[in-house]
Parts: sequence; structure tokens; C-alpha cells
Amino acid sequence: MRVLMIGAPGSGKGTQGARIAAHFNVPHIGAGDILRGHVARRTAIGRAAQGHLDRGGLVPDEIVFDALGHALCEVDGGYILDGMPRTVPQAERLHQLAVDLGRLPQVALHLHADDEELTRRLLARGSTGGRSDDTAPVIRERLRRYHETTSPLKAWYALRGILLPVDAMRPAEHVGHEIVAALEALRPAALEEGFAI
Ligand code: AP5
Repeated sequence: MRVLMIGAPGSGKGTQGARIAAHFNVPHIGAGDILRGHVARRTAIGRAAQGHLDRGGLVPDEIVFDALGHALCEVDGGYILDGMPRTVPQAERLHQLAVDLGRLPQVALHLHADDEELTRRLLARGSTGGRSDDTAPVIRERLRRYHETTSPLKAWYALRGILLPVDAMRPAEHVGHEIVAALEALRPAALEEGFAI
């Protein structure tokens, strides 16, 4: 199964991405996790990305594709790509890469939750020593960025016929069950077309 996860900060991309990846036994590639790994290891990519992560801004495309390129090129079958793309230009570039690799996504999963709930979840994580970008001002900036630059991806993938919207306002367990059931329903079609899932 080849899935892109789109959703605002706190919508559950990481939580559900891990669940889907385990269910379908495919790699979970988290853009934010990979970037934070570089920051922790103080690599050149990490040093270039850190300020953007701290401010809740987008890391420039060249750095993001550098950081994720290896994981994407290593994909040999299915994948769950979480947090990538975040802009229409990233989607266009990713599309070309997926065509070159013969690994076009089958589903672009969009997790929807309202800003009040997203803020509540992220502040709760921040208050228990979660992530350094889970502070009120940085959360506001991450949400602003999401609405401005990432949200248009819903229309982009809807036009291509692969958008799967999911109501992420419910408890994580319910959301996960619904996603797995919806993706399971796609398995026969994917097999017919000879996709590796
Ligand atoms: P990234 O790590 O992707 O962060 P994000 O998009 O801000 O999203 P989060 O990880 O905070 O939330 P999530 O949707 O994964 O939800 P989660 O499951 O964690 O990116 C971080 C930064 O990296 C970006 O700001 C940017 O700087 C940079 N970056 C990344 N990708 C980039 C790209 N492509 N281009 C440029 N820059 C990029 O859940 C959050 C919390 O909510 C958890 O505590 C969880 O337990 C809880 N929760 C989850 N689901 C539910 C539920 N249904 N009910 C109640 N609580 C829930």
C-alpha cells in the first residue's frame, strides 16, 4: 500500500501513520522525524533545518528532498509517507520522483480536525515534555502555514482521484479502525493492477 498522509499539526499523521505501516507491513517515512533525527545528530542538514523547525516554518525544499531522498529511493514496494508533501511545488516534485521510481501513491489520506482541538492536543503534548515546537506561538505559526500552503493539496489530490478524507476529531482508535478498513477495501483493486502492497 502506498499512502501519503496530509493533515494539520496534531491531526494524527504520526499516530495513524505508524498504525497503518504496521498493519500493511510497509515503512513509515515521517518527514518531521527524519528532520529531527538530523538535528539531533547535528548533521549539515540538521543545522540548516533547525531554525525552521524551531519557528514552525517550512524547511526549504532542497533540504527536505536531500533529507528524504535516501528513504524515498530505498522504497521497494509500499510506503506510508507522513508530512510530505506540504506544498503544491513539493507535490509536483514528489510526483515526478514517484513516476521515475514507479511508485506512485495510491491514496492521499487527509486527516481533518479543527484548530481548537489541534491546539489542545499539541499543548498537551508540549506540557508533558513532548516537542520543542509544541508551544502556543509556534503552534499558531504551524497552523497558519498549514492553512496557507498545505491545505490546497486536498484539491490537488482530489483532482487526481486519490484523496481519502477522514474525520480525525474522534478518538485515535476509531480513526485508525476507519482508515485501515478503507485501505483494506482498496487491496483487491491494487492487486488487480499489480501494485505491490
Ligand atoms: P512534523 O513532525 O510532520 O510535525 P507536524 O506536521 O507539525 O505534525 P505533528 O507531528 O505535530 O502532528 P501529527 O499530525 O503527526 O499528529 P501526532 O500523531 O503526532 O513536522 C515538523 C516540522 O518539520 C514542520 O513544522 C516543518 O518545520 C518541518 N517539515 C516537516 N515536513 C516538511 C516538509 N515536507 N517540508 C518542509 N518542512 C517540513 O499527534 C499529535 C498529538 O495528538 C499526540 O500527542 C497524539 O497522541 C495526539 N493525538 C493524535 N490523534 C489523536 C486523536 N484522534 N485524539 C486525541 N489525541 C490525538
